Amino acid sequence: MKHLVNRVFVTAMVLGLCIPAWGQDIPFVPSPMIVVDRMLELAEVKTDDIIYDLGSGDGRILIQAAKKYGARGVGIDMNPKLVADATRKAAEENVSHLVQFRAADGLTVDISDATVVTLYMFKWFNNQMRPKLQQLQPGSRVVAHDFDIDEWVPNKVENVDPKSDSSGELTHARTLYLWKVGTPAQIP
Ligand SMILES: C[S@@+](CC[C@H](N)C(=O)[O-])C[C@H]1O[C@@H](n2cnc3c(N)ncnc32)[C@H](O)[C@@H]1O
Repeated sequence: MKHLVNRVFVTAMVLGLCIPAWGQDIPFVPSPMIVVDRMLELAEVKTDDIIYDLGSGDGRILIQAAKKYGARGVGIDMNPKLVADATRKAAEENVSHLVQFRAADGLTVDISDATVVTLYMFKWFNNQMRPKLQQLQPGSRVVAHDFDIDEWVPNKVENVDPKSDSSGELTHARTLYLWKVGTPAQIP
């Protein structure tokens, strides 16, 4: 009887913790620029890449990729105001010919032409994206900030330390995950 009561209690706790997390709204929290730069370096972004940022916020990842590498980008965000802000910022930075931003649910968009995908989204979102990500062209890179993907072993995991950020924008350490589609994982 005592075991049964314990089991019911533990199950209730687990459900209580997991259900709110699943599908929880993902707020706009921008990646610090040092993290943006490192995500693009990890993905080895080149001019001929097409980058999708799912949950693109103010557009900083794609705008930086366009400015630094001349790469094209598609940003998807649920929030139309952020899409408008990112579109305006891209124009101010003279990269409108390279990047576009759309208001949509990132889970529903066709990303099949992506060669790089960037994510700063909760784990439940990343997990739901996994089947689409694994079907990208071999050699495509997926880089995630702080939240990894269950049952998909990354090729590389890296920490970004605040001590390395002279601007002071990065206040706490971040973890970046890199997957290379169709290649065996190599964890350092
Ligand atoms: C943590 S911010 C990341 C912003 C940007 N990628 C960066 O790293 O600076 C997450 C963004 O995802 C957007 N978002 C949340 N759920 C979404 C969904 N289902 N589809 C598309 N965008 C979503 C939010 O509006 C927010 O701007």
